[in-house]
Amino acid sequence: MNKSLILFLVLGIALSLATPSWMNVKDTPSDRAQKLLARMNLDQKLAMVHGYAGPYVGDIPSQTVDGTKIPTLNLEDSPQGVADGVTKVTCWPSALTIVTTWDLHAMHQFGGAIAEEERGKGANVLLGPMVNLARVPMGGRNFESFGEDPFLASKMAEQSVYGIQNKSVIATVKHWVNNNQEYNRTLTSANVDERTNFEIYYPAFKAAIDAGVGSVMCSYNRINNTYACENEETLNVDLKQRLGFKGFVMSDWGATHSTIPAANNGLEMQMPDDSFFGAKLKQAVQNGQVSQSRVDDMLLRILTPMFAMKLFDIPNNGNLSVDVQSPAHTKLARYLSSLGTVLLKNEKNILPLDESKLKTIAVLGDAGDKSPIIAGGGSGHVIPPYIISPFKGIENYVSGKNIQVKYAPTNPLTEAVALAKSSDIAIVFVGTTSSEGHDREDLKLGNGQDVLVAAIAQAQPNTIVVLNGPGAMLMPWHDKVPGILCGFMPGQESGNAIADVLFGKIIPSARLPVTFPVSESQIPVNTPAQYPGINNEAEYSEKLLMGYRWYDAKKETPLFPFGHGLSYTTFKYSNLKLSNTAISFNITNTGSIAGAEVPQLYLGFPAGANEPPKVLRGFQKVHIHPHESHEITFHLSSKDFSIWDITKHDWSVVRGSFNVFVGSSSENIRLKGVVKN
Ligand code: GLC
Repeated sequence: MNKSLILFLVLGIALSLATPSWMNVKDTPSDRAQKLLARMNLDQKLAMVHGYAGPYVGDIPSQTVDGTKIPTLNLEDSPQGVADGVTKVTCWPSALTIVTTWDLHAMHQFGGAIAEEERGKGANVLLGPMVNLARVPMGGRNFESFGEDPFLASKMAEQSVYGIQNKSVIATVKHWVNNNQEYNRTLTSANVDERTNFEIYYPAFKAAIDAGVGSVMCSYNRINNTYACENEETLNVDLKQRLGFKGFVMSDWGATHSTIPAANNGLEMQMPDDSFFGAKLKQAVQNGQVSQSRVDDMLLRILTPMFAMKLFDIPNNGNLSVDVQSPAHTKLARYLSSLGTVLLKNEKNILPLDESKLKTIAVLGDAGDKSPIIAGGGSGHVIPPYIISPFKGIENYVSGKNIQVKYAPTNPLTEAVALAKSSDIAIVFVGTTSSEGHDREDLKLGNGQDVLVAAIAQAQPNTIVVLNGPGAMLMPWHDKVPGILCGFMPGQESGNAIADVLFGKIIPSARLPVTFPVSESQIPVNTPAQYPGINNEAEYSEKLLMGYRWYDAKKETPLFPFGHGLSYTTFKYSNLKLSNTAISFNITNTGSIAGAEVPQLYLGFPAGANEPPKVLRGFQKVHIHPHESHEITFHLSSKDFSIWDITKHDWSVVRGSFNVFVGSSSENIRLKGVVKN
């Protein structure tokens, strides 16, 4: 055998000895995790189940096994960009704004872009998506949420997780579970029945799990009087056994309340410190109160997603000082903000603005320039590198054109009214904001904004109102103005984005992911027992009737319903064909410009006790050229006709006649029929 061959063989053997078996990329993530686990001692294992002080909001330092480093885990916030006081990042539109696009590709892009920036900053665990539903319309974190409907939230959660984890970053779906209010969030017990959870509050988490989410964050609150991070029923039974979660559960920051119950009932990682899962956990293991096999299960649940997301194979050389902005991300942030802007009202076709006819535009309201509303507060708050206010954005758009744009803040009112009166058109920017830690007092705009809009509308018939805010908002002046738009939290590119919609560069196609009530008396959680709870006990007594389901069941007509949104063109629905496997119909663009429609499929279960009148079971964003028709087909599975059966603790198919509603919102039903299942 010649020398070179011998040398080659020796090198090969040496290399195989130097590279541990768990670094073989050909093995499955769980096999690699098993092999690494077998090489770790108890201290090395326990070093990974709690946080340490470090530069990220959550840190688990690296350690070396068999001469090879286990990567650090750098955890960072997230739902609308790299947060926690980090700078030189993109301040994206809020997650709720992206859900408002009803565009699954948009959510996938959003998740991927934020994950790219997280990686650029050296983070490899992104603390999002946040999929708690907007049960409480005043909820302080609704801007981070995926709206009020489990089906819409599920489809969006799936794409968010795919987008994030495709970038070799572990996604963390949060907050498990029933964390639907900020008021007394660390004490309140959400008292919810099993069916309501499986049909309303769990589906978005289940969708994230089916998309392979690596981590779940358990929440601050109690569920049925047991803290979420030590709740055997919701963690070991519901999340792991019934929903099939195989990754790791981390606590919210400070949400761990014990060592032995938490470890045995399903928590894998205490964040951000080691007060319960440090020395106390080692003691419990040595006493046999937490078994070695449970410790191994904890580690496998942590290591497997690390291998699955290639944290061992693709080095992450980022750090918090890197500038992760880019022209591509700036452009995408602007586009997504436009895409997530809902056209709520457009009488007299006042929109889009006609540049050929306009000479003077009045931009009014503090939110128009003095205090632009672009992002919510708390751990999800992103520091914008700059803010393009609505006034600046409109100025940018008309520069070089023969159009004058002038601005006046909310006060003095007389100045704003005079400017409106003397202009061809008045665009009033109003809104409010909210933050983690506090719910909004009410749904009003406040700060004299309703007075401002009413006064402007009286002085100027061509008035458009643009709202920015964290969720549903009241509009007592809605019948006084011909045009209304809502952009929720639009991010740093706010002004450029709204200008693109106002002038028709982007044709509005967004739809409301939450119901906008006429008044607070209409909302589903309208008793203190339901919200904010009495003696820290919040009763989910509305059960399945959350969001639009409530308005339907109570025959209440909201101001703007779930799923509502207009375009600059119009659409006709026709030719409904029904079966229990497919619902199809035609949509025709009956206008003169291209646009996107979002047909929605709702099913009404057979008349039975307390079934919601209809539930969302399909939607699709479809782009149609003028006078063209598209055939849309929604495919149905037995799951769509099922309810959660609390005796079987599983889904059960319902037989009978189902109402079929095809609508351009939950209220605006364009086609209907009956299908037998
Ligand atoms: C916060 C939030 C959670 C966040 C975590 C880390 O309290 O509830 O969403 O990811 O702590 O900042």
